[in-house]
Amino acid sequence: MTLNVQHEVSLKAYNTFGVDVHARRFAEAFNDDDVREALAYSASHDVPLMVIGGGSNLLLTRDVDALVLRMANRGIRIVHEDCDGAIVEAEAGEPWHPFVLDTLAQGLAGLENLSLIPGTVGAAPMQNIGAYGVELKDVFHSLTAIDRHSGELREFALADCEFGYRDSLFKHQPNRWLILRVRFKLSYSANLHLDYGPVRQRLEEQGIKQPSPMHVSRAICAIRSEKLPDPATLGNAGSFFKNPLVSAERVAAIKLTHPGVVGYPQADGQVKLAAGWLIEQAGWKGFRDGDAGVHALQSLVLVNYGEASGGQLLGLAQRIQADILERFGVALEMEPNLY
Ligand code: EPU
Repeated sequence: MTLNVQHEVSLKAYNTFGVDVHARRFAEAFNDDDVREALAYSASHDVPLMVIGGGSNLLLTRDVDALVLRMANRGIRIVHEDCDGAIVEAEAGEPWHPFVLDTLAQGLAGLENLSLIPGTVGAAPMQNIGAYGVELKDVFHSLTAIDRHSGELREFALADCEFGYRDSLFKHQPNRWLILRVRFKLSYSANLHLDYGPVRQRLEEQGIKQPSPMHVSRAICAIRSEKLPDPATLGNAGSFFKNPLVSAERVAAIKLTHPGVVGYPQADGQVKLAAGWLIEQAGWKGFRDGDAGVHALQSLVLVNYGEASGGQLLGLAQRIQADILERFGVALEMEPNLY
């Protein structure tokens, strides 16, 4: 028995918004046995289990009446290797960006575009993290999860995970599967994705003609740092809304009044609109009400200037949703998990 269950613990340090709510019970899982113990504790004490990783995709609006289990299991290993590449396994509690750097340092390409994303390895498949033209599903091999009902381990291959845009099977069944470790299919030869936004331009400006995956990682770190606030200094959860999928007719209607609307046509005829652009056009960029605000450099990011409560941040998000619906006829969906 190694699980250390604490009572009435502040979660301020465990969510990147820096919202100060309490967990009725709190523990950290350093290995599979701790996870099993937490499941048993949850059942025997009749207290729900809430699993968190880096707390970077979470908005807490009240005290958490549950056992909050922070995944803190660590370990990175190559489980298969051939001439072309390797399958690398990482435990769920590994912080994401240092893991990306570790694979790049081993000469393995594939995760470079996903550099500097906050959070942990175990949380990454939940919402199929993505950035600069690459999503987790593009480099995913498989994962091991524990069935919270039966306690059995189960392997999930790519096809089992139902990955979509910021979406997965695990997001839809949060109380069923607890992700323990994830495997990625990485390559010794780079197949770089430079076509999203300013990536190629940034490399050209630096005079880099034949970029390595490490060059791409550094360029993406620089681009992200310029626009996205560092949660260590300004509370936030990255993009607060998903980019909405709308019909071509809706885009045509918006273009009548806003010819510059930014959108990306999809294979099915729908268009994925840049929610940040809509929010900026509606005048919210840099808006602040108390300590809850809209980031001055990226309208898709809500920020906590210090003491904002989860309720205040949620209230601001709902005001933005109502305004965007009224102005553009577009419903924005929140990206973080709400509690
Ligand atoms: N834009 C504006 N105003 C803004 C923000 C954006 O006009 O305030 C415009 C930009 O000029 C650009 C377009 O909107 O033309 C897209 O902006 P950007 O490239 O910054 O990306 P995004 O759509 O705002 C998405 C992801 C980010 C990811 C970036 C880069 C979602 C919800 N967000 O943001 O992911 O880093 O693309 O790939 O899909 C996250 O999920 O937490 C996240 C940060």
